[in-house]
Amino acid sequence: MNKVFSFVLALTSLCATSCKLSLDAELSLDDKMSDAQIEAAIDTILPQLSLEEKVAMLHAQSKFSTPGVPRLGIPELWWSDGPHGVRAEINWNDWGYAGWNNDSCTAFPALSALAATFNPDLAYIYGVALGEESRYRKKNVILGPGVNIYRTPLNGRNFEYMGEDPFLASVLVVPYIHGVQSTGTATSVKHYALNNQEEDRMGVNVEVSERALRELYLPAFKAAVVDGKAWTLMGSYNRYNNQHCCHNEILLNKILKEEWGFDGVVVSDWGGAHDTKEAALYGLDVEMGSFTNGLDAQIGNFGWDDYNLARPYREAIKKGELTDKELNDKVRRILRLNFRTNNNWGPGRMTCDAHMKTAHDIAREAVTLLKNEGSILPLDPSKKIKIAVIGENATRTLVKAGGSSELKPKYEVAPLDGIKKQFPNADIQYATGYTSGAAFYGFAPAPKEDQKKLKAEAVELAKSADVVIYVGGLNKNYQQDCEGGDRQSYELPFGQDALIDAVAAVNKNMVVVLASGNAYSMPWLDKVPAVVQAWYLGSESGNVIAEVLDGSINPSGKLPFSFPVKLADSAPHSFNDPMVYPGVDHQQIYKEDILVGYRWHDTKGIKPLFPFGFGLSYTTFDVKNINVSNTAADIKVSADVANTGSVCGAEVLQVYVGKVDSKVARAQKELKGFQKVNVNKGATASVNISIPVESLKFFNEETHAWELEKGKYVVYVGTSSADILSTTEIEL
Ligand code: GLC
Repeated sequence: MNKVFSFVLALTSLCATSCKLSLDAELSLDDKMSDAQIEAAIDTILPQLSLEEKVAMLHAQSKFSTPGVPRLGIPELWWSDGPHGVRAEINWNDWGYAGWNNDSCTAFPALSALAATFNPDLAYIYGVALGEESRYRKKNVILGPGVNIYRTPLNGRNFEYMGEDPFLASVLVVPYIHGVQSTGTATSVKHYALNNQEEDRMGVNVEVSERALRELYLPAFKAAVVDGKAWTLMGSYNRYNNQHCCHNEILLNKILKEEWGFDGVVVSDWGGAHDTKEAALYGLDVEMGSFTNGLDAQIGNFGWDDYNLARPYREAIKKGELTDKELNDKVRRILRLNFRTNNNWGPGRMTCDAHMKTAHDIAREAVTLLKNEGSILPLDPSKKIKIAVIGENATRTLVKAGGSSELKPKYEVAPLDGIKKQFPNADIQYATGYTSGAAFYGFAPAPKEDQKKLKAEAVELAKSADVVIYVGGLNKNYQQDCEGGDRQSYELPFGQDALIDAVAAVNKNMVVVLASGNAYSMPWLDKVPAVVQAWYLGSESGNVIAEVLDGSINPSGKLPFSFPVKLADSAPHSFNDPMVYPGVDHQQIYKEDILVGYRWHDTKGIKPLFPFGFGLSYTTFDVKNINVSNTAADIKVSADVANTGSVCGAEVLQVYVGKVDSKVARAQKELKGFQKVNVNKGATASVNISIPVESLKFFNEETHAWELEKGKYVVYVGTSSADILSTTEIEL
């Protein structure tokens, strides 16, 4: 008998005498409870619960689970990382892995790679596959997606998020959530809010204008809640308005729950709750990870009852210091989550071919071609050429690291293996070239002192090769693309710049493939003919990279964040002021305000190395017949995209809008629409983009309201934030 039916029957029998359960008694075996039935069931349960049972539901009983109500047959809730795959099972009460042998997963591309696809359809299938794997692993909540805005290229967790533009992140986060939750798994959109760096993430208080908060840092969360209907949301570690974001009166009560009408559960980041009264009053529903970070001294029954929303809360209510009004709202939300995720859903699936195909489909549209001088790419796989593959990232795992989003994949194809498979006729030789010196999960890199030897060997190998494929980048080591620490410099680590220089000096046919979730400097750019930004692509990475290199895949990725030439060219670092980044004495001010990423580059006239929205193809496109018109309600942009090259490919037409003579400071232009089109060689595809005039509003800090400014606007149509093909002035 399915879980929901038996549970509801138990309920009915339990209170048949005391109250009329307005549930439709003949709930059939494969029905789902409607929202109304769920609310009715909650109305019936709530009065049945003791204070102890209510408070128990508000906090962890283990690292990643919260109690149900055994007496009533209400199941426990299980929570699991992460945004791009279901994390391996963790011990009951410490951060160690449980060592199961049935929890290997599909490693999907990181969300920065999903963002680079500019394809909301892929975000949906991504969510469905991830949701199915979560179901199979019996997890009620998957702790993702992350949608914090990419503010500084040093942030350790940018790889987990969807880039620098709130519109792009908003468009992609909604179908991802719909996909996950269509399987009965709840999402937990994170980290709400202003968690834009790892440096001092537990302590920093972010001061930012309400306008920048509303126009840049909140939109993707609002879309996730209002359009995505996320069932849970995770508070962030940092503070805003000098209050922890996990219990924050403005962010959680005023904006999230009152203004946006969030009816789900606010869960703390692990260890993000700090105060019983604030947690009770300022919007926290479930407290996780407070004292038992696995290493702290365990108190009593492992500290679970010492949580802020545990015994201290019970006692505060018993003493009358707090009422049970907030408690009942928290319990109602938790029960709603329980019913939503235990509502007769399917069993899910794990690491099936379909999921691996999904990972591949996303990865193939994420890879971003940044340079291809003389069309050195794609390489011809039929030729008997000598290929030198150089770089530690050609063989090292990039999935089993990075912090809480790390995964134990069923497999992860390394680039070297992918290249060997795609180029069977080539003589392929490998040289490590550089070493990170950090062993990870069985990967034993060369010791640091061998750096010189490795470089010499790589240069030697490159001399006699027809083509060099360099595979490097960041690698999720600590203080790279990794949770818990920011990068300490903008350059590629481990001496890679010098190595690339040295190899390029002996072989002009060098293709540089870089894995990262962040921008980095490229002092060697003029010395190499081809650069491929390969992201973190998960299980299928080596296959996809090799298929791009041999042309089986025509890359169509676009940068979801700008690549400044140097760090000082990026907004927060241009001030050269530690208050702006990383903050001083736990205080930080976002002085760049609304000008982040391309908004900064365009408005300040600082040309980036590669602009937001940029990506090349193996074919060429001609965008014609661009037409822009507007009514009072929306702006309509139409165009024809002709494929004038020799292979089919995809282009992303982007529409930006800027205000002329605005009464307030504004970015030169902001992304307000985009559409990705696949076009066969010699064919033409038509694009139609409609932009609601509503979306042009700015947030007026005097009136604390969104306001549409009348007057002239400029509509920019292009294939990146810097490759603008047409500008049209309109009047609103
Ligand atoms: C971590 C991360 C959060 C993760 C949680 C559980 O500290 O900030 O993203 O979901 O704790 O691992």
